[in-house]
Formats: sequence, C-alpha cells, structure tokens
Amino acid sequence: MEKLDGKKIKICVFISGRGTNLKSLINFSKQKKNKIEITLVISNKRNAKGLYFAKKNNIKFTIVNYKNKKNAETRILKILNQNHIELICLAGFMKILSKRIIKKYKNKILNIHPSLLPRYKGLNTHKRVIENKEAFTGCTVHLVNSKLDSGKIIIQKKIKVLKKDNVKSLSKRLLKVENQIYPKALKKFISTSL
Ligand code: GRF
Repeated sequence: MEKLDGKKIKICVFISGRGTNLKSLINFSKQKKNKIEITLVISNKRNAKGLYFAKKNNIKFTIVNYKNKKNAETRILKILNQNHIELICLAGFMKILSKRIIKKYKNKILNIHPSLLPRYKGLNTHKRVIENKEAFTGCTVHLVNSKLDSGKIIIQKKIKVLKKDNVKSLSKRLLKVENQIYPKALKKFISTSL
C-alpha cells in the first residue's frame, strides 16, 4: 500500500482498556516520514482508560456497545467504511471479530498477543506460563484470521521468565516489549505485505 500520492494509510485501533499499545502506535504515527495515520479509535468500553490517548491527540473515537454482537459489527463496518479505514490494529480489544469483518479486511487486521504464539493462545497467558515454569515467554504481532490467535506471525520477541516473577511483574515487563514491537511490526507489515 505504498501510496504514490503521498497520502497516509488510514488506521483504526480497537481497544477495550488501558491503551498503552494505542499510545505507542500514536507516537509512531507522529514520527517524521512515517506512512500511517491513526484516523479512528474504536472501544467497546465507554470507560476504557486508553480513550484518553485518543482525546489527547485529537483522534476521533467511537464507543460501540456490544450488547448485540451482530448490531455492533454492522455499526463497526459502517464506521470503518465512512472513515475510509484501510488497516485495523487490535490493541487489547477483548471481543472476537466475526468472519464478516475478517473477510472484509482480509490480511488487513493486526493483533498483539502476550505470548510466543502458537504457544499460549487465548487468555491468562502469564498465569499459565508461570504455572508451567516456562523459562521464556514473549509477545507476538500477527495477522488476524478466523481462528483465534492463529494468523501469520509478523514479529515476535522473547523475554526470560525470572524465578521471582508473578503475573504482575511478568506482564509489566512484557508490556514494555509489546509497546516496542507493535510499531515495528506495523512498519514491517506495511513495507513488505501491502
Ligand atoms: C496487551 O497485553 C496485549 O498483548 C493484549 O492486551 C493487552 C493490552 O494492553 N492483547 P494495552 O491496553 O495496550 O495497554
């Protein structure tokens, strides 16, 4: 998606909570010579802390009520279309997108997951990693397909699990790495796959 007209790639970031990965993607978009624009933020939670970063940076945001998933996704597709969104970055979005959206944005949806996929798909990764006494864990940015946490891997980074680690300390340390690799993965994806 190298744009000859100099226009930036319009990205929508989906969040449900804290938004540190959103923040790091926004910071990346502000760097000189980058080719992306965070055009829109969608949250399924009205009180998601991450919305602060959208507000602070004058980025349009929308809250989508998920009481009825079908209606929620119809609304999402409409908003994405209205805003000419070309790429989606899931960043702590706690809802599973249905095939309808995944098909429409085939190979155009990225996600960040706090484990070394294909290991530890799903929730509570750190707890399971510690219980299993793993020596290493990590994080993965991958494409989203219709199987949970199973799409093509773009970037992965490994870290050591320390003997003294608990869920809190491990997730805190890994989050910093997540915030570093998401922009890198996006850059790599744009330059190699679009
Ligand atoms: C991250 O750990 C991410 O890997 C997972 O959800 C968390 C989101 O964190 N999918 P934040 O909201 O970006 O701070």
